[in-house]
Formats: sequence, C-alpha cells, structure tokens
Amino acid sequence: MSAKLVNIERHIFEQQRLYPEATGEFSAIIRDLSFAAKIITRDVRKAGLQNVLGLAGQTNVQGEQVAKLDIFANDTIRKAMDHGGHLCCMGSEENADIIPIPDKYPKGKYVLLFDPLDGSSNIDANVTIGTIFSLYRRVSGGTNGTLEDATQPGTEQVAAGYILYGSSTMFVYTTGNGVHGFTLAPSIGEFLLTHENIRIPEKGKIYSVNESNFIYWDDPTRRYVAYCKQTDPDTERPYSLRYVGSLVADAHRTLVYGGIFLYPADTRDPRKPKGKLRLMYEANPFGFIFEQAGGMATTGKQRILDIVPQELHQRVPLIIGSKTDVERYLQFQQEAESA
Ligand code: AHG
Ligand code: MN
Ligand code: MN
Repeated sequence: MSAKLVNIERHIFEQQRLYPEATGEFSAIIRDLSFAAKIITRDVRKAGLQNVLGLAGQTNVQGEQVAKLDIFANDTIRKAMDHGGHLCCMGSEENADIIPIPDKYPKGKYVLLFDPLDGSSNIDANVTIGTIFSLYRRVSGGTNGTLEDATQPGTEQVAAGYILYGSSTMFVYTTGNGVHGFTLAPSIGEFLLTHENIRIPEKGKIYSVNESNFIYWDDPTRRYVAYCKQTDPDTERPYSLRYVGSLVADAHRTLVYGGIFLYPADTRDPRKPKGKLRLMYEANPFGFIFEQAGGMATTGKQRILDIVPQELHQRVPLIIGSKTDVERYLQFQQEAESA
C-alpha cells in the first residue's frame, strides 16, 4: 500500500488544528518559506554551471566574504516573505539592521529571522549547505516591526526550522509539537513528509567539532573532547569525529544519528569572542528543534533558549545533541566550576 502522501501544506494545516488560536498565517508563512526553498534549491543544484560559485567580492556585517549564492538566497527569501501580510519585519545574517516590510505591503503579527545560506565556505566545494529560520510573534505595537521584536529570547519562538541542500533537499521544522522532516520530490515539486516526529537518540557515539580550535577552548571543553577519544567499551568510546563545517549538515546528522555538536567559545579571533555562531538565526532555532526532538542545547553555562539577546547578530557558544552526551559535557563544566 503506498505511503500516505502528506505535503507541507497539509501537515501544517493538520498541526494548526492543535492550536485553536493559530490563524492560517502559520500555514502561509511555512508555505512561503517552502516556496523560497524550492527556488534556492534550483539555483544550488546548478550553481557550478552558472558561475554563481565564488565570491561576490563583498563582505557582510560579519566581516565575512559573501558568496553570490548568499546574496541570491537572501534576496529570494526576502522577496518570498515580504508581501504576504504576515510579517512586521525580518532579520537576516546578511543585513546589519532589521529588514522592514515595504510600505506598499500589509504588515502582520510575526517576525522572521533567518540565515539565508549556512555553510557558505562550502559552496565552491559542492558540500552540503542550508538555510535556517526562526519565527516569533511581534511584541511591539505600532505598524512597523522593531529591533525589540527581532531580539526575543528563544523560548518565545513559535516555529523554527531549516532547509538542507544535500543529496536531496529536506525541509525540517517544529511549531512546538515535535520535529517533522519533508523531502523534496523534484518530479512533482512538493515537499513530502518522510520523517514524522524526529526523536534524537538518547545517546550517540559521534562528536562534531572543529578540532583546530582546541588550544583556544576552555579547559572543561578540552577535557571533554579528550574524553570522547579515550577507549571505554561501556560508554562506546572512542567516539567517531564527523565535521562538515556547515551547521545545518552537522546539526541534522547529530539529530538523526545522535551524539554531540560543539562550537565552543574561542578567544583567538576578536570577531568571535563568544564563539562563532549567531544566537538569533543559528543557535535559537536549533535550540528549539533539539529540545523538541528530546535533545539539549546549551552554551555550557546556560540553556540557549533562556538567553536574553543583547543584539541582532550576537554570537554564543553552541553545544547541541543527545541528552546523555550534552549532560556529560555539562558535568565537565560543573566540575570545573566547583573545583
Ligand atoms: P555561515 O556560512 O552562515 O556564515 O555559517 C557558517 C558557520 C556554520 O555553518 C558552521 O558550523 C561554522 O560556520 C563552521 O565554522 P568553522 O569553519 O570555523 O569550523
Ligand atoms: Mn550560518
Ligand atoms: Mn549564512
């Protein structure tokens, strides 16, 4: 018997019935995001053929070289999302300030934060990249959204998700009722439900970190990573090391296989005193997703979702993964604190 064919629109509509107060706006926002995902997929899939690869010679607010696909993905999401009347403003990794909704379009009660293209250093090597998004209800009054709307704690998120441009394109999201994954069927142009209610394994045997930063980590992090490499069959150690360098790819593998991903604080580079990853459109969305899948998300000192943001592009240390693995990491941090 053929599997039940559920596309994103049907799934979010069925999810919506769980939230009596949710209007059709949720569906419309997720639908518009999935449309943008299809457009970006088309260009990612032919990037090598249209000289889209390579750097556009510009740098973004992070002071990073911006590849053309970054710009294309950013523009695609902005254009897909700015006219539906559901958002009061947006925030993007590629824009220094919040992105207002053009005057000619109606404003809505939601705020969208996004990383249009995650893992851009991997574009030219044709390695998996992604898009990350996070959705909040606005808190300010008035017509146009404000920075206050775009810098709320992660606990206030109403939805979060990512798109993975891998061997297939996947759209994974949560609205607080589990984590659900859809795979794009190119022949029909639909995202079909393939991973209903993703649960991260209680414990994994893979750790994921950029080891070249080892000498810049705090001592508990160094000791934890050394612990992963020691031999102990009872705790299935040594763990394997897997590191793609695209957060979306490393996080999705950790979600599906279990284990732990770390981007710890790094004192080497003045640009990333608190770590490299950004709170509003990398750490918070994955914090919501991992907790919804039964995992954990911490800075090593604090639950990611509890952080009160100070600015739009704030960076934080990010440790996400299986409950048992993240708790073991936190034990190293707590032992150091009580020493
Ligand atoms: P982005 O391409 O959106 O700037 O994100 C890149 C991030 C993230 O995807 C990944 O986990 C991390 O950079 C890798 O950093 P390192 O190359 O320093 O390991
Ligand atoms: Mn990113
Ligand atoms: Mn990015």
